[in-house]
Amino acid sequence: MSYLKQYLNQVFLTDILALLKDLPDKSIDMVYGDPDYNVGVKYGDKSYTKNFNEYIEWYIELAKESLRVLKDSGNMFFINYPKQNAYLRVKYLDQVCYDVFDYVWTYNTNVGHTPKRFTTAHRSILHCIKTKNNKFYKDNVAVSYKNPTDKRILQNLKNGSKGRMPYDWFYFDLVKNVSKEKTYHACQIPQKLTEMLIKSCTIPDDIVLVLFGGSGSELEVCKWLKRQYISAEIDPKYHKLILSRLKNGKIEEKYRLPIRKTPIETLHPQLTLLEKQGTYSLRNNNKPHKKYLTIA
Ligand SMILES: C[S@@+](CC[C@H](N)C(=O)[O-])C[C@H]1O[C@@H](n2cnc3c(N)ncnc32)[C@H](O)[C@@H]1O
Repeated sequence: MSYLKQYLNQVFLTDILALLKDLPDKSIDMVYGDPDYNVGVKYGDKSYTKNFNEYIEWYIELAKESLRVLKDSGNMFFINYPKQNAYLRVKYLDQVCYDVFDYVWTYNTNVGHTPKRFTTAHRSILHCIKTKNNKFYKDNVAVSYKNPTDKRILQNLKNGSKGRMPYDWFYFDLVKNVSKEKTYHACQIPQKLTEMLIKSCTIPDDIVLVLFGGSGSELEVCKWLKRQYISAEIDPKYHKLILSRLKNGKIEEKYRLPIRKTPIETLHPQLTLLEKQGTYSLRNNNKPHKKYLTIA
């Protein structure tokens, strides 16, 4: 632990595989990985697209090192598209883990609609454990019973139950451009989802290794929940954003998406309608009283 102290509550500007090599065996309570999915997403100026097999080799190496640093009682989560996670599971995780669970995060989306298949609106979350003694805190994440007047449920409540274990599929809205938690980072995981995962298997002071710092959203949740964290981010722009977000407890304006300003003339039809409804006053001395209206 004393060796690990120097890494605690720090975000390193480095490749995660380099950081992992420095961390001792069996020292981490939770590993949380939301890597680049290898589908050509641009992070700032970079895109990490590799040949699929090369990507899986890299993903396996990442999982191998992550499992090495995970305590026997720990839990490891990897968020990705189903195909990437399926390959990782079959080619590697099933052979080395005590158990692997495949959860589904679903969301509504208005992009990616295609005429000849159903629209992708979920991601896979693999949950890996090394032994049967993984720590898991149902009370931290319990949800209300659906039928609280049922006899058996009443007995459970009487015995101190805080609710039922959530199902293994979760609905959380994507982080929208107008969300308070949105930064200019290309891909953010909703903080409510992260919060549930972190609370499910850690308690205050436990150590969470967030493999990819990204926008710092998971690290902020760790801070709020008083979990200790260790993380890496390879892109200097995002690294700066993370440090600022953690230090100031908020997202500075320069790290947010630029606000889209629409000339008011193009909005006249809608504004006239709003004006009729009494929710917007279009004219001040017969002129638009704002040159631009900020829309999200
Ligand atoms: C999918 S994003 C993570 C977003 C994060 N979950 C959030 O909600 O903000 C992946 C991040 O990993 C970074 N990255 C890619 N390859 C990396 C590597 N080898 N080591 C460290 N960071 C890396 C990218 O710059 C990107 O910010």
